[in-house]
Amino acid sequence: MNIQAVLFDLDGVITDTAEHHFIAWKQMAESIGITIDREFNESLKGISRMESLERILVHGGVQDKYTDEDKARLAQEKNDHYVSLLSDLTPDHTYPGIRELLLYLQERNIPAIVASASKNAPKILNSLDLTELFKVIVNPEGIPGKPSPDIFLSGAAAVGADPAACVGIEDAQAGIEAIKAAGMYAIGIGDANLLKQSGADVVYPSTKEMFESPIWKS
Ligand code: BG6
Ligand code: MG
Repeated sequence: MNIQAVLFDLDGVITDTAEHHFIAWKQMAESIGITIDREFNESLKGISRMESLERILVHGGVQDKYTDEDKARLAQEKNDHYVSLLSDLTPDHTYPGIRELLLYLQERNIPAIVASASKNAPKILNSLDLTELFKVIVNPEGIPGKPSPDIFLSGAAAVGADPAACVGIEDAQAGIEAIKAAGMYAIGIGDANLLKQSGADVVYPSTKEMFESPIWKS
């Protein structure tokens, strides 16, 4: 495959912030009497902040109990907690092989793109000192969320790449579905059963194995 662009999810692919999201949602949910576990959390991965909140309220059977104002406050509380958990993020928190892959792509003039639902993406990339290695950080504002393909298509369009010649990397089921709906090659990071079900072309247990894969040389 002659790769024209590589599109990276952020949380759970570039660094461990998927775990920070889980911790912050769990605490917010508990504050209103809802318990969430890791299995349920899989259905939040890749999903926008407000949609995640809606899913948690439905999960707790209280979707009609809160006004839009209440929801905005709950989402703000979660985000404040989440951002406080990011305060000690340093370049050392970048997952293994990610910086190496970005440098490898840069040497070959293959654009790297961030296709994340997170509004905190620019801040996290700065903390990891990775911003300059990405050609584009897609702004998720106003773009239909994953599993819609839009965020991946928008990233490819920004660098003039043919989606069929793009590779997307995701840890979320919704994200893999979005990559496949965009017509791209999908690399999953994490649970092979889960991500293969969503259509991943290949799944690696972690970014370390992904970087060492012959896929980049073919
Ligand atoms: C995605 C995460 O990358 O970003 C989701 O997988 C998160 O868990 C979403 O809800 C939105 O992030 P943020 O930082 O804008 O609340
Ligand atoms: Mg993710």
